[in-house]
Amino acid sequence: MKNFNISENWEKIEKKKKPKYLKKIIRLDGKEFIQRLKKKDNKYIRNLILRLYSGDFIILKNCVSEKYIDNLKLQLMKITKTKKSNYYKMLEGCPNFWRRQDERIAKKYSFQAVRDSFYFFRWNKERLKIWKNFDQIWGSIKFLGGLRYNSFVKNTPKDKVIDRVQIVRYPKDTGHTEPHFHDPVNQRIIISLYMSELNKDFHHGGTYFYEKKNKKINVEKNIKKGDVGLFYSTLLHGVDAVKIKAQIKLRKNNKEIQGRWWCGLYSPESNYYKKRNTSSPAI
Ligand SMILES: [Fe+2]
Repeated sequence: MKNFNISENWEKIEKKKKPKYLKKIIRLDGKEFIQRLKKKDNKYIRNLILRLYSGDFIILKNCVSEKYIDNLKLQLMKITKTKKSNYYKMLEGCPNFWRRQDERIAKKYSFQAVRDSFYFFRWNKERLKIWKNFDQIWGSIKFLGGLRYNSFVKNTPKDKVIDRVQIVRYPKDTGHTEPHFHDPVNQRIIISLYMSELNKDFHHGGTYFYEKKNKKINVEKNIKKGDVGLFYSTLLHGVDAVKIKAQIKLRKNNKEIQGRWWCGLYSPESNYYKKRNTSSPAI
């Protein structure tokens, strides 16, 4: 394959109809993925482009160590106890922050569910080694998506597109996220780092796709803590409400970090841009 150019490959394939439904679930070794991308293994890259654009959900196994994730969750819970919940727009100088969202699940319940989101931006100093642990895999996926390894890395909000790490904790009985899709304009591949596991940390809920209209497929049983999930942005997806059975057997000391944890590595448009490309509902 002479003169293989990833962006051109994408642009060519994107003339075809964009994927909406899940086709297959593929598992790949995370370390091998990083190596093959680094070596510019064109056959491997070409195959992944084809697979992603046909609607496959790719799970990269063991991308981030479980030990790091467990410790990170504990550190984040500490932050919720020492710092106030807050919200900042993505403007110059925006700090890292965390936000507690209370959501009323349904009228029949009188309580509100809690969801905590933690946001990190590159221009802020932090001690959790977020970028050190996520950048190798994030850079490789940017490259696969037709960007450079370091695209957006030096950007701040005035540059339009910025890198943002969002970590979300769904303790239990949280509401669901309606099916939606994203605009591929700045980021073709949606990246999720899974920080918890079905039947260990929660019993129901999490990411789902559609195999066809009205045929919902929850994919959480295929995922382990530390795996990274990839799919083309136009694939219809949502999040089922997280549930934990009362008799859950908790591993030692992990009561306060129980629940579902998800991390999105995303490059959104900053708030200087009025018509931001964000997500769109399915209908
Ligand atoms: Fe989404």
